[in-house]
Amino acid sequence: MSSKTIIAPSLLAADFSDLRNEVEMINKSNADWLHLDVMDGVFVPNISFGIPVISSLKKHSSKLFDVHLMIVQPENYINAFHKVGADILTVHIEASPHLHRTIAAIKETGMQAGVALNPHTSVSLLKDIIADIDLVCLMSVNPGFGGQSFIENTYSKVEELKELILSKNANTLIEIDGGVTNKNAPQLIRSGADVLVAGSYVFKADNPLLNIDLLKK
Ligand code: DX5
Ligand code: ZN
Repeated sequence: MSSKTIIAPSLLAADFSDLRNEVEMINKSNADWLHLDVMDGVFVPNISFGIPVISSLKKHSSKLFDVHLMIVQPENYINAFHKVGADILTVHIEASPHLHRTIAAIKETGMQAGVALNPHTSVSLLKDIIADIDLVCLMSVNPGFGGQSFIENTYSKVEELKELILSKNANTLIEIDGGVTNKNAPQLIRSGADVLVAGSYVFKADNPLLNIDLLKK
């Protein structure tokens, strides 16, 4: 079971003055995806990077691009992110009054569609859409910043979401984002997590490749 866990290092914790080398370091690792956090300063109280940066990095990466939009009106940027190489595009449920339409528009491009939930948002809100979603990103910190500590309530949300997915016979992946380390990874995987995002635990480490392998185990 654990050998199939997908590891997605979050570039938010990388050295922004040396992004090409950081991406090439991840190419050499056993990570599966690269997680890219786009923040607009409106949906979250921080601004990160956007479409031109992702476009430039795509040329140097061999990993699947997992783009996490922490922006208002994400539906306005679906084609733009598709064009620059997003493979998975995740929007926040809290920023998406017409989620069903947005999911359909993402899938229409050929990308996989993800939905992210803030820590206070109940997984029960996904009951009528879960079968249409490729990935649910459960935020295990409040979005906006790397390096925060993991919210313990996430374990029970993973279990509840896993039950919902099984009850609807869906293939939706469960992704955990925020404060993930080798300390909480085993219980997350036991609870039903499929994808672990890790920013600080990978990029701030002395040996990022080793830490990626530790998460995989
Ligand atoms: C937070 C971002 C996360 C963040 C995780 O808003 O969505 O992807 O980069 O960073 P760590 O692993 O340091 O909590
Ligand atoms: Zn993220």
